[in-house]
Amino acid sequence: MTEHVVPALPENEIFELVERLDVRGPRYTSYPTAPVWKNHFPKDDYLQGLNALVQRGKPIAIYLHLPFCKSRCLYCGCNSFITGKEETICNYVDHLIAEIRNVGKYVERKLTHSWLHLGGGTPTHTPPAKLAELLDVLLEEVPGIARAERSVEVDPRVTTDEHLRILSERGFRRISIGLQDFDETVQKSINRVFSVEKMQAFVERCRSFGFASVNIDMIYGLPYQTADSWKRTLEQVSTFRPERLASFGYAHLPDKIKHQRALPAEKMPTSRERLGMLLDTNRHFASMDYQIIGMDHFAAPHDALAEAVREGHLWRNFMGYTEIRGVEMLGFGASSIGEMNEMFVQNTTLPKVYNQRIDDDGWAIARGHKLDADDRVRKTMINDLMCNLIVRVPNEADEVDGLREKLANITASLAPFEEPGLIEPYEDGWKVTALGRLFLRNLAMPFDRYLPDQANVTFSRTI
Ligand SMILES: C[S@@+](CC[C@H](N)C(=O)[O-])C[C@H]1O[C@@H](n2cnc3c(N)ncnc32)[C@H](O)[C@@H]1O
Ligand code: SF4
Repeated sequence: MTEHVVPALPENEIFELVERLDVRGPRYTSYPTAPVWKNHFPKDDYLQGLNALVQRGKPIAIYLHLPFCKSRCLYCGCNSFITGKEETICNYVDHLIAEIRNVGKYVERKLTHSWLHLGGGTPTHTPPAKLAELLDVLLEEVPGIARAERSVEVDPRVTTDEHLRILSERGFRRISIGLQDFDETVQKSINRVFSVEKMQAFVERCRSFGFASVNIDMIYGLPYQTADSWKRTLEQVSTFRPERLASFGYAHLPDKIKHQRALPAEKMPTSRERLGMLLDTNRHFASMDYQIIGMDHFAAPHDALAEAVREGHLWRNFMGYTEIRGVEMLGFGASSIGEMNEMFVQNTTLPKVYNQRIDDDGWAIARGHKLDADDRVRKTMINDLMCNLIVRVPNEADEVDGLREKLANITASLAPFEEPGLIEPYEDGWKVTALGRLFLRNLAMPFDRYLPDQANVTFSRTI
């Protein structure tokens, strides 16, 4: 069985700890976290960031956001918009193409990519010919290096063979399939019905089109899920032998996300039951020798992410986990995020406003944050904690007056987490245990210098 997956404590004792320690906090997909970023980020600062990318000359990651879906999944927390109109989608893609052309012109086509990811919404809700047009422009403006990784998120209910062919011909070998749960009652309640048989046929089609790596997304904590129904879903998903899996805890934020109010809250599993599902998931995939990745992902033992975990250089950004430590990223499309050493930037969220901004002057940056040296050191530290489960002050801390001492003090202040078994001493810091993996947010939050000012932000619970 893979190490560091399942805590040795009995479940009721783990639950007591969760009750005692679990806090609402950021997921630290970025540091500083998105609520800290400022509105009205100057375009000139973004242009400086683009120049810096060109100067560094390293291949980058690229994210394209395609926000449209055919129908509404009631749990959905993504930046997605429902439309059946091809015209709306194609008009948006034309603006996305204009943004890519604009950046391509600005960087004089001197950038290359090592990773390209299409996310959404549902990228394959785009008419196939339009998707091909978009990808061809991207590959022309920011070409890939040899063996660049290309990945796409799909809803299998709308993905045709033509989509798969177009993606495969353009070097896409990773596909992430949204499933969530196989139980029929659960599926009906979330407005997302797709049978085991259809899923099986879809996975086979993906493989036949050359997708060597299949990821499946699941969610626990949805209405009508029970311990037994969830175990059945886990068994069924395993028969497809996906290279990667994600099992997200359902983030229920009905105050912010209106359509979630249509879900029956009284039918959702309790937090005790959610913990049981999370532990069952970990046990199940550990017994199949999958490597747990961060808080909620799994990778088959031969997968590059599993190797990155074993070697301690796993990294994470808004596109997901990666073995390319410190990779910088450009985002295109509504709500997309760019991440450079010096800054985070985010485009405006609503497709209509995005289209208008691109029409106005070719740019759609709405918010961002410039990282200072202190931010960069804490970012590395928090990323190493969330990905590699290590708490240690990085060497770069010496470049900022007094920072090493500050971070060493915070590291020492985590000592009370040793007794309940969340961490163990390791070098000058700590190593997180299988139990501590459930509390990564608790361990990261003390290093976040902006958190004390964020009392008014609502975060979801870890479990
Ligand atoms: C953009 S969607 C995936 C692609 C495609 N639109 C689909 O649904 O098949 C990304 C994933 O986020 C997860 N997700 C969405 N809303 C969530 C929520 N409220 N809580 C937890 N996970 C969520 C789902 O697992 C979903 O598959
Ligand atoms: S298809 Fe995906 S992005 Fe669209 S509503 Fe469903 S979960 Fe959200």
